[in-house]
Amino acid sequence: MDDAARMICLADAAAGEVETGMTLGLGTGSTAEAVLRALGRRVAGGLEIRGVATSRRTAALAEELAIPLVSLEEVERIDLGIDGADEIDPRLDVVKGRGGALLHEKLVALACDDYLIVASSEKLVATLGSRVPIPVEVVPFGRQQTASRLRRLGFEPQLRTSGGPEGDAPGAETPVVSDGGHVIYDCAIGAMVDVHGLAAATKAITGVVDHGLFLGVARSALVVESDGSVRRLVAPSGPNLGRR
Ligand code: A5P
Repeated sequence: MDDAARMICLADAAAGEVETGMTLGLGTGSTAEAVLRALGRRVAGGLEIRGVATSRRTAALAEELAIPLVSLEEVERIDLGIDGADEIDPRLDVVKGRGGALLHEKLVALACDDYLIVASSEKLVATLGSRVPIPVEVVPFGRQQTASRLRRLGFEPQLRTSGGPEGDAPGAETPVVSDGGHVIYDCAIGAMVDVHGLAAATKAITGVVDHGLFLGVARSALVVESDGSVRRLVAPSGPNLGRR
């Protein structure tokens, strides 16, 4: 089955979890977009929901699909958040942020009573960091200083730019700016031994706004296999460290 068809199988399964009256966290990225389109089809058929968008991109698509939106400030809690991921480990700790929306995604995720990750099975890894770099959102002021501190933690930070060769040198491509007005460093590190320690150390750096490690946040995941079948993974119980 091709990737587009797999996405539809996954998106329909995720949209099937949604009940009328729910307030939803609407994720960002290609998988979240597929879910949004499936929700749009259900809304056209009479489903009544409202959504909190995690990015301007998602807000624009939700409006196009006639999905009513509210801001995060307007809601006390969100019933269910649905979002994609770049890596998923067996605890359902995930890496997010390739789409540049990690800060708003995390703020929305932490307001959700339930949080569902949707992804293709290629995103499953034994250890986070093994497939993709960890995106870290950084304030633009003094960003090279912040990047040096990230380097001291063992990361290889690379400024995300709007195409072409990436770099932090004068004359480099224009940095990508997040919806929150920050720049993003993609921080390669390889498979992480102490994910929680590294997440805490990263967050503690002045100049770092947040990172793409979502630890203890997801309760379950829907994963689509190469044949289009969708299976549910459930996070092992334990302290919910991400919910702070
Ligand atoms: C957006 O900032 C990201 O967190 C995405 O949710 C994540 O990168 C997954 O994206 P895809 O669904 O496009 O693979």
